[in-house]
Amino acid sequence: MTEFIKDLKRTDYCGNIGAADVGRDVILMGWVHRRRDHGGVIFIDLRDRTGLVQAVITPDEMDDIAKSIRSEFVLALQGQVRLRPAGMENPDLDTGKIEINVRSFEILNEAKTPPFPLDDAIETAENIRLQYRYLDLRRSELQNNLILRSRVAAVVRNYFHQEGFIEVETPFLTKSTPEGARDYLVPSRINQGFFYALPQSPQLFKQLLMLSGFDRYYQIVKCFRDEDLRADRQPEFTQIDVEMSFCNEEDVMAVIEPLFGQIFETCMGRKLTLPFPRITYREAMSRYGKDNPDTRFGLHLHELTDILRQCNFKLFREVIDRKGIIKAIMVEEGGAFSRKELDDLTHFVAPYGARGLAWARVTADGWASPVAKHLKGSEIIAINDRLSAREGSLIFILADSAGVVNASLGNLRLHLARKLNLINRDEFSFTWITEFPLMEYSDTDKRYVSTHHPFTSPYLEDLPHLLTDPARVRAHAYDLVLNGSEIGGGSIRIHSREVQAQIFTALGLTEEDTAAKFGFFLEALQYGTPPHGGIAFGLDRMVMLMAGAESIRDVIAFPKTQKATCLLSGAPSRVSLEQLMELSLK
Ligand code: AMO
Repeated sequence: MTEFIKDLKRTDYCGNIGAADVGRDVILMGWVHRRRDHGGVIFIDLRDRTGLVQAVITPDEMDDIAKSIRSEFVLALQGQVRLRPAGMENPDLDTGKIEINVRSFEILNEAKTPPFPLDDAIETAENIRLQYRYLDLRRSELQNNLILRSRVAAVVRNYFHQEGFIEVETPFLTKSTPEGARDYLVPSRINQGFFYALPQSPQLFKQLLMLSGFDRYYQIVKCFRDEDLRADRQPEFTQIDVEMSFCNEEDVMAVIEPLFGQIFETCMGRKLTLPFPRITYREAMSRYGKDNPDTRFGLHLHELTDILRQCNFKLFREVIDRKGIIKAIMVEEGGAFSRKELDDLTHFVAPYGARGLAWARVTADGWASPVAKHLKGSEIIAINDRLSAREGSLIFILADSAGVVNASLGNLRLHLARKLNLINRDEFSFTWITEFPLMEYSDTDKRYVSTHHPFTSPYLEDLPHLLTDPARVRAHAYDLVLNGSEIGGGSIRIHSREVQAQIFTALGLTEEDTAAKFGFFLEALQYGTPPHGGIAFGLDRMVMLMAGAESIRDVIAFPKTQKATCLLSGAPSRVSLEQLMELSLK
């Protein structure tokens, strides 16, 4: 065996070789995915990021070095492409018709046996995979996810440049800009006792760029939020961040919809139907119980409060008297549910605060239901009418505060759709949610807080209710929802200092509070701020949905665990006493 790598250059990627290459001499480099020793002949599946190709080392080339080849060794090999013998083709492999007849090869590096098999159908626990993330990333599933992510980012950059947007970077070491989550703080060595915050988003900076006259800005940018993690949240994640001047909601949507058209066409080969449907926040809560509804299926929620306002059923009446609501959801073919399953659904809604869940089967003789005896015939008929219930339908009814009813039935709706197989996994259903309330009451803070952030523009015609009934004030704020996930959100911003001051007052923030938190920003607003607005998308979430991945971690190269740790590097970690002293921290 000669040391031929010095003079040789790779001619091809493994996965790109096909029947058209038969007869060609190729030089390939990659990892040994699998090695089979068939008594004198060694078959090697060589892998690179494009896929696998079978290489055959015949007895002529066989020596002790060839015999020492193991999985995940790094190889260079030279040989001729030939058709596999009849009957030996592998239809599961793109390169399954051909193989490489190896003429010479070199082991470029050896490898320890990996702690888990690097196959696509993997059963290894995620914490082991995260500890050896660089090996996990060799699997084609994760490689394809990151390649998709890179292609999406490329389309985004091209699109915004074509549309006249300017990419501007904003600082990571900055002042805390409140956006609902907790900040990650970074102590300053030079200014002892002072802290930077990592940005939860570039919100204030992108607004300042509008003030500076950049007119159209975008950035693909890391954001940092110290919040409780879920399957679609990470402490550091990436936004496609956008801001425009002299625009209204329509203008923002008109820029964003074709962007998604291009992303899906280029990266998925799918044509989206534009424009996307829009529903108001109120409609979304009423029909789906959520502001991030999965619109791939029906199973709508229906209001029954008006029908049952005078009913004799004590439980329902008490809820109505306490200003609660009653809503129902109906399954057309209810036969699939056993009595036990119906009872189990009560347990399903309990975590959302529901103390019970009434059900009714619609039969030829009326309702078969534990609550039927409490209701008048006319009420039952009115409910059937409202839901378009027929014989065989199954109705679920819940009475409680609006929050509990919507959370319970909104999640029950998703649960039923999964159980009844109503979700088309191949569909991408986009919906804009508009007219969010400007503020919502926070039970933890015992005051009204901004639904989006305090710089969101209210509907001016709703402003008279700002102090008397804040929940009634609508905002020029919008979210884009895809298959039940909020993939983006934004708003038109306040550009008038007077309106901004009114909002702060309504939020219960004093002048000292606001000056300390964002005095620099309020000062800036006075120097000729253009009307402006924007939006930001969660790139990780978008790619997760596009890739059909279960977790946001599957589309991030080096993600954190649910406990915000990096199992690969061991972050966060303790630091030395010297480091702490330098920062004068104890
Ligand atoms: P918002 O807070 O809605 O808006 O964030 C925009 C989008 O970012 C994604 N996202 C996340 N993705 C992963 N992990 C997280 N922890 C996480 N948090 C949010 C979501 C979300 O829709 N500055 C405003 C935007 C604006 O008003 O222009 C903002 O950050 O997909």
